[in-house]
Amino acid sequence: MKIVTILGARPQFIKAATVSRALKKAGIAECLVHTGQHFDKNMSDVFFEEMEIPRPDYNLEIHSLGHGAMTGRMLEKLEEVLQKEKPDAVMVYGDTNSTLAGALAAAKLHIPVAHVEAGLRSFNMQMPEEINRILTDRISRVLFCPTSTAVANLKREGFSRFDTKIVTCGDVMYDALKYYAVRAEKKSSIIQQLGLKRGEFVLATLHREENTNSPERLRSIASALNTIHAQSPVVLPLHPRTRKYLASLNIELKAHVIDPVGYFDMLMLLKHCRLVLTDSGGLQKEAYLSGKFCITLRDQTEWVELVRAGANVLTGADSKKILSAYQKYRSKKITTRALYGKGDAAEKIARELKKMLTPRRVRR
Ligand code: UD1
Ligand code: UDP
Repeated sequence: MKIVTILGARPQFIKAATVSRALKKAGIAECLVHTGQHFDKNMSDVFFEEMEIPRPDYNLEIHSLGHGAMTGRMLEKLEEVLQKEKPDAVMVYGDTNSTLAGALAAAKLHIPVAHVEAGLRSFNMQMPEEINRILTDRISRVLFCPTSTAVANLKREGFSRFDTKIVTCGDVMYDALKYYAVRAEKKSSIIQQLGLKRGEFVLATLHREENTNSPERLRSIASALNTIHAQSPVVLPLHPRTRKYLASLNIELKAHVIDPVGYFDMLMLLKHCRLVLTDSGGLQKEAYLSGKFCITLRDQTEWVELVRAGANVLTGADSKKILSAYQKYRSKKITTRALYGKGDAAEKIARELKKMLTPRRVRR
């Protein structure tokens, strides 16, 4: 029984970490293929090292290209790998170009695709992530959904009529947060290194295409972050994409800008910040799971249950809205963690895959 896991971007390393461990425990062999989409040491290697993810069996080193070229080149190389490895199934995570290329390469070879973090929708087809996740869901054989909202989205789109199994399993990012919390506490010294006071700083991240590729939105967000920084220090581990755009537009950020950090440092920043400002998908959930309110710098979120629960507010890139949300929510605490399962999503995924891949006549 063999699975090929295809990943390439930072959030996928974090999602795959606990699933890889669960697959091993369930006796399923895993071949890891890194597309190379993320390649800086602190965007890739650091996660494999800290989280003890097995070394990739292949690294395709495809990165820094437009959507079509990146996805196309990945597709071509992944097809070669899959023809050689002949797995029983292919596993993909989330909504990046690596996700879509992996699912498409497998589906065309009639290899069943398992999609982790299936069924999410922002309903904004301008976002590359929305295109990637809708197409990946449609060509997958088994859809692992983190929430009941995700299942409802799929049912609304008619997935009950397709040859697809829908499984609600909770969110693998909760598994990771629970599993690595103690290690992060022991290994990370970021709070001391940066001289931060617990509960007094704001954690921000910014990298989504809809913000970085619009000078107007980027300027407006930078202006809000600078104003907040004058009241409470803003710590901003900056994605290389955003760094490039800020430099080319000469936008000054007065916040405490640092290079992207590893997962352990991120967990400690989440634990000790007062509030999160982000356009990240994953960080919205991690803020909630760390008891922090999240101001989301986007016009839509696929994590709508956070907004409904009063743990997240959408401000888009409007600096006035960001500042007024900051004033309103800067002392708000989140006291529940009920939205994303029990932290056993990886085990459920491994169990389901084993069932799916065991021939019926052998199963008892
Ligand atoms: C990708 C995903 C996005 C996800 C994000 C996670 C797509 C379409 N987008 O966006 O959904 O939220 O990853 O972080 O797949 N770069 C570096 N070093 C790196 C990685 C990237 O310098 O290690 C640079 C690239 O050269 C490129 C830019 O950052 O110029 C964007 O990288 P890319 O992988 O295309 O998209 P992300 O913005 O990272
Ligand atoms: N993350 C990290 N270091 C950073 C920024 C983010 O470890 O400097 C982690 C974060 O905790 C979360 C994941 O990366 O687990 C989110 O990835 P990202 O925001 O890049 O992508 P998205 O979730 O928006 O697709």
